[in-house]
Amino acid sequence: MSQPQIMPADNRLDVARLRRDFPALSRKVHGKPLVYFDNAATAQRPRAMIEATRRYYEEYNANIHRGVHTLAEEATEAYESARASIRRLMNISDPGELIFLRGVTEAVNLVSQAYVRPRVGPGDQILISHMEHHSNIVPWQLIREQTGAELVVAPINQRGELIWEEFERLLNPRVKLVGMVHISNALGTVNPIKRVVQAAHALDIPVLVDGAQAMPHMPVDVQDLGCDFYCVSGQKMFGPTGAGVLYGRREILETMQPYHGGGEMIKHVTFEETIYNDLPARFEAGTPNIAGGIGLGATAEYLMSIGMDRIEAYERELLEYATEAVSAIPGFRIIGTAENKAGVISFTLEGVHPHDLGTIIDHEGVAIRTGHHCAMPVMQFFGVPATARASLAFYNTREEVDHFVEAVQRARKMLL
Ligand code: ALA
Repeated sequence: MSQPQIMPADNRLDVARLRRDFPALSRKVHGKPLVYFDNAATAQRPRAMIEATRRYYEEYNANIHRGVHTLAEEATEAYESARASIRRLMNISDPGELIFLRGVTEAVNLVSQAYVRPRVGPGDQILISHMEHHSNIVPWQLIREQTGAELVVAPINQRGELIWEEFERLLNPRVKLVGMVHISNALGTVNPIKRVVQAAHALDIPVLVDGAQAMPHMPVDVQDLGCDFYCVSGQKMFGPTGAGVLYGRREILETMQPYHGGGEMIKHVTFEETIYNDLPARFEAGTPNIAGGIGLGATAEYLMSIGMDRIEAYERELLEYATEAVSAIPGFRIIGTAENKAGVISFTLEGVHPHDLGTIIDHEGVAIRTGHHCAMPVMQFFGVPATARASLAFYNTREEVDHFVEAVQRARKMLL
């Protein structure tokens, strides 16, 4: 599927070479080389993914799991081998435990509606953290409206870390599910998911992990984490938009009612009754995003060929470098200073509105996100309406960090 990358003997990433795998990285913006620091919003795509998608559309475009003709068989084979690739990336041993869907938002909605909703009522609780983004907040508010269950929020400290003692104190038998982000998109905080799972499981409470920001930046082994659900968005991990994955433990998925009804999720239909399909098809109603699934499989192969541990190590160094570099900018306040942090620098610049900053440095070719990052409660906690955010990926470099720092310095002089 993807081209294996040749790494230097010292086991470090050959970033210059890897950058050539991403066509968009070589473009110019306003006549300047693009510095793409908006990876938490969506990442750039490698040629391996783009090519896999193109090949599907151009060479064997057909529906899957339905036809006996050659194209249908080729498409089905490619889709299922993509599932196998993603399973390897996440260490999911059972094919029934990987459900293809649109992304984290759909995954959390599936779990909330198909698993939690029938099991909770007044007096029950869903426990999340204060650093969740909207897709791991709003589905639970819907459950609250629909069932009367309570939504409880574990607090964070001024560094943007979960306050462990408070979280532990909030765990009690009334909690029917813990929903926790692995890496915060707005702060960069890496949560101690294994510890969260152990503490919750001690009270038989299942745990759902929002892995949108973790998958592109660190090794994710769902068996090692021990979580019950793990939600993934393809577009954050260099894959296609509208393609994602829900990992669920078989013994839990088997107890769940289907979420969407339609083709594919059935074995037999009469007007009187329907026999539902086995996992994972039971939760994959309708013709799926076939090209998206195949593209995501190619992305998984690509990432494995690089090595997620090497990606994590490289990004850690780059974040350290960037954190040091921005300290030279007067009035630069980093929001989110957790001890265990991934490559996100969310910040305010004294006297400068984030949107103005974002617009001006765009003219220097630097792409960052400004706003609430779909995590308004995080902004409320830190008492800011918005932040600017530079979010890194393994294809970013120290030179780009320097360029970003210079662009922010120039913008600051212009705006103050
Ligand atoms: N949640 C996405 C972000 O962090 C959209 O930008």
